[in-house]
Amino acid sequence: MTEDRESVHVAVFASGAGSNTQKIVDYFRNHNSIKISLIVCNKPEAGVLHIADKENIPALLINREKFFNDDAYLDVLKKTKIDLIVLAGFLWKIPLLLIQAYPYKIINIHPALLPEHGGKNMYGNHVHEAVIASGSKESGITIHYVDEHYDNGDILFQAKCTVDENETPETLAQKIHLLEYENYPPIIEGVINKQFLK
Ligand code: GRF
Repeated sequence: MTEDRESVHVAVFASGAGSNTQKIVDYFRNHNSIKISLIVCNKPEAGVLHIADKENIPALLINREKFFNDDAYLDVLKKTKIDLIVLAGFLWKIPLLLIQAYPYKIINIHPALLPEHGGKNMYGNHVHEAVIASGSKESGITIHYVDEHYDNGDILFQAKCTVDENETPETLAQKIHLLEYENYPPIIEGVINKQFLK
């Protein structure tokens, strides 16, 4: 990414508990060139804000109207010198303005094997319920670039797990989380190190 500065700065956008965010922060804590510089969140009560606080990472609590109608947050991202945006359980659609400002520099993780079981309202247990209801024998994770449609951008990486008999959304969620924790941080590093094509 940027060669003329010491660190590559990453912003993590998250609205939930933030367990992936914690793994990402842990992975890059002592990294010599990649820094988690900002956590962006749209829910004042989200667990991820406690992680930001505990880890001494600046947090930005965003407002819906401003996020979708204004470019003010873009200024904040640019001032913080953010190079890459990582979505980790962020449920709002990313505005076109932001996508255009960060082409192939926004990535997301989805808790199923896209293109199946993605799209609007497909998040959390809704996804796992849909996978089980479909009778599919496997699920997994998809890490992909973000474009202007939900869960649609070019796929960077997928990993699979089985959907066993008597699987519940909760047991499947546990398997998926383990795959996410293991794979998301190194894939983020790979994107920054240009190990992927775009
Ligand atoms: C993850 O399962 C991720 O796939 C999805 O949102 C969930 C976030 O979980 N996009 P957490 O907040 O990181 O625990």
